[in-house]
Formats: sequence, C-alpha cells, structure tokens
Amino acid sequence: MPTVDISSANGKDFSGDALIVPVFSGRERHRLPLSVSKVARAVMDESDFKADYQELVPLHHPNGVKGARWMVLVGLGDEEQVTLNKIRKAVGSAARHCLKKGWKDIGLLAPSTVSLDHDAVQIAATEGVLLADYEFTAFKGAKPEPKKFRNVEVFTNGDDTRKARRHLPVIQAGVAACHKVRELASTPAGHLYPETFAAEAQKLAKQHKLHCEVLDEKALAEGGFRSVLAVGQGSSKAPRVVKLDYKPKDAKRHVVLVGKGVCFDSGGLSLKDASSMETMKDDMTGAAIVLATMAAAAQVEAPVRITGLMGLVENMPDGNSYRPGDVLHSRSGKTVEVLNTDAEGRLVLSDLLHWASEMGADHIVNLATLTGAALIALGDSVNAIMGTDQKLVERLIQAGGDTGEHIWQLPLVEEYRDLLKSPLADLKNISGIRWGGTITAGLFLREFVGGASWAHVDLAGCWSSKERDYRPFGPSGEGPRFLLDWLVD
Ligand code: BES
Ligand code: ZN
Ligand code: ZN
Repeated sequence: MPTVDISSANGKDFSGDALIVPVFSGRERHRLPLSVSKVARAVMDESDFKADYQELVPLHHPNGVKGARWMVLVGLGDEEQVTLNKIRKAVGSAARHCLKKGWKDIGLLAPSTVSLDHDAVQIAATEGVLLADYEFTAFKGAKPEPKKFRNVEVFTNGDDTRKARRHLPVIQAGVAACHKVRELASTPAGHLYPETFAAEAQKLAKQHKLHCEVLDEKALAEGGFRSVLAVGQGSSKAPRVVKLDYKPKDAKRHVVLVGKGVCFDSGGLSLKDASSMETMKDDMTGAAIVLATMAAAAQVEAPVRITGLMGLVENMPDGNSYRPGDVLHSRSGKTVEVLNTDAEGRLVLSDLLHWASEMGADHIVNLATLTGAALIALGDSVNAIMGTDQKLVERLIQAGGDTGEHIWQLPLVEEYRDLLKSPLADLKNISGIRWGGTITAGLFLREFVGGASWAHVDLAGCWSSKERDYRPFGPSGEGPRFLLDWLVD
C-alpha cells in the first residue's frame, strides 16, 4: 500500500511522477485551480479532448505545473451527470495508465462539484487510485516486482479534508481486501486447493487475531458435512471447512458470512466443456471474500461479531466421484437427489448454511459463484441477490451502490419451488429446465437456512472479461468493499 496524504493544497508544488487531473466537460473546467486550468484549457482548445467520461490525455512536462513530470487529464463528462462511482472509475482509469508506465509518486487533484459532498468525492477519488494499484506477477517466470505506487498525494484545493482523512483506514482496509480476493482468485487451482487455502486462512487469521478452526475430512465426517464430502470425493485434494471468528467486545449484532470455496470446478462427472472450465479456478471467490472481509473488519475494528464459514472443495471426475442419481443425506437431514454434479456449489453451501442457521445469528449472508445464469441475466458487472429479509437485501444493494459493486435483486418465485421436487428424495439439485437458473439455485439454498434473516449473493461480477476503469483483466475483487460498507455501519 502506498502512503496516502490528503491535504487542502492545490497541487501547484507537487513534484512527483504524475498529477491526475479530473476534468468536467463543457464550461465547468473553470472550477479547476488556476495553476492547472490554464493547461487544461489550452489542451481543450488545441486538441479534441472534450473531457468526455473516461477520456484520457497524458501530457509531458506540462506548463504551469512546477515539478510533476506528467499531468494526466481524465474526463468526468457532464457535471450534471456525475456520480461518485463515475469519479472513482475515471480516476481509476487514469491511475491504471500511471501504474502501467511505472510511475510511483502520484498526485491527484480531487474534483470539486456543486452537486456532491466534498468529503465523499475526495474519498471516492482516492479509492479509485488505490483500487487501480494492483499487479500480480507471482506466476511470471522471472518473478518481476509488481508495479506499485509509492506515494499518493491528494489535493483538495482548499476544501476541508478532515472527514476523508478519518475515513481513510476503512478505504485502505477495503482496498487491501479487494486485492487479496483478486490474488486468491488468480492463483491456479494446482497451487490453491482446500488444504493450502485453509493454511492461507490460518495465516491471515493469525495476522488479524481472528479465531480460526479448520475441519479436515475426519472432523467433517463427525460433523455431518456429508454434502461437502460428497462433492469433494472425486478429487485427490481432500475438502476442508474453515470457521473464522471475529468477536469484538460489546458487539450487539452477530453476522455469519458463508462462502463457496470450490477451488476448481470441472463439473465433476457432469463435466464442463473446455472453454467453460478456463476460469473455474475462480469458483472459490465467495470463500476468498469471506476471508478478506473478516481480515478487513478486524483491521478497522468493525463493531459487530462476525463468523465466517468457508466451504473448500475441488469438484473432479474420478472413479470415486459422486454421481448423477446419488442421494445425499445433507447435514440438515434433508435428502438431495443429485442430477447434475456441476450444481455442486449449492450442495457445499447447504451443509454450511444449515450450520450457520444453528448459530442463532442476526443475519446470514452467503457469497457464491453459483450460476452461469446470473451472468446471462446481469452481465459481468452486476451481482445478483436474493433473500428472506427484504431489509437486509435492500441494505446490501445500497452498499453495492455506494461502493460501485453493483447488486440487483432477483425474486425467489414461489411457483418455481416445485421445480426442485424429487420423486425419490426431499429435493433435487437442479430444476431440469434452463430458465431462471439463478432463482432456482437461490430457492435451493433457502431450504437450509431455517427461519434466519438471510441473503444470497450470486457473484456474476467476480471476473472482469477485460481491463476497465480501476479493474484489471480477471478477478475484480468485488465483495469485501460492499460488505464492509454494511458491517462498519
Ligand atoms: N461455478 C458454476 C457457476 C458459474 C458458471 C459461475 C460460469 C461463473 C461462470 C456452478 O457450479 C455451475 O456449474 N452451475 C451450473 C448449474 C447448472 C448445472 C444447473 C451452471 O450454471 O451451469
Ligand atoms: Zn459447477
Ligand atoms: Zn461451481
């Protein structure tokens, strides 16, 4: 993490590698500090830079800015249309440009708007720079040092900085957690499998003073986690379940976070095709989010008790695999007819959600890369949410809006519950029709939460198919920031 300084200076004396200058289109550029507005105006007059949203112009040795080697103008578009998410993303694009150039000492002129809170703008802009500051080189042969910023100086040109500075630790913890999720989800399944993932959880738990318990195969059998064991039985890598506990004094609420941690999803005997398997090392993103969020919550001393459950398995075809047609006696006592071994996430979660429901917590939130149908419905920038507690669902949607990690609700349509009826067992693990797959998966999970206040996030937004704004190609790292927004509240 770079050092971050937020001051009310105007950036005139900044002497680092590059100063990022967000600019509104139209006449609003006059609101830039004088030192910079001359340059911006000249560029706008002489080039076709219109300051459209996300438009970038890097200028070398700009006139009027004393020490900075570069000034990067980035468009915010029309001021009337601006939002905090747009600011975060536009600044993030400029910061990605700087990062790729290897520039390390970065200045940022926080934009000033009439319509938005100054503090919130400062926070969003700073966050855009920090979120962009990510490169993962662990698997490059020469092991190059990842490009990283060293110092980030934010200039507010006279605006009060107290609130933003006070909020900075939460931003930094959220960004670190986002990057942790990106790293874990990027790590190939040959390296990150249940045992090594559990070890990683123990390591992070120790750093953040979280209580951590790892259930191995024997403990899972004793604990009745038969669905977890069934999904994992085709792999040479044995399953693990990790339980993390963060227990601050005087906590009035207790939340359980449950994460799907399928370290690789081949589909099992209901094998996926080759291209569908390419990104399935990321099928553990839910568990990574649980781990990273708890570390961040502990770091900022969130005032709520949090229990984290991670269900870690590998789903593989093998002579010992569970089969289509098998009936599982889940931990809850409900029996499940498995008709497709690729609908494995809901089986893993069924045991964990049942365990969570026994804890008597105020809320249960599970996070899972559960269905391809969520991507079909919402694309890869919006996550799906469903739940039994509308207030909880709405609070999480709001947190998604606040953090730019978008979440959209799908209905748990009662009529579709019939599609999960099995002639043989209490229910089956697929609906048997293609339509509404995200909803039927949600309905399946609901069977295991008892009467709890529960929400399920289907993580369609966990993998960016291309680089954009502050997001690199690959795992987006979404999750911890919206959860933290809620937990800290
Ligand atoms: N991990 C996948 C869901 C997934 C697929 C997430 C593609 C992101 C991208 C999950 O285990 C799965 O395979 N679900 C099946 C369910 C089906 C068999 C009912 C799916 O979505 O095809
Ligand atoms: Zn699957
Ligand atoms: Zn899966």
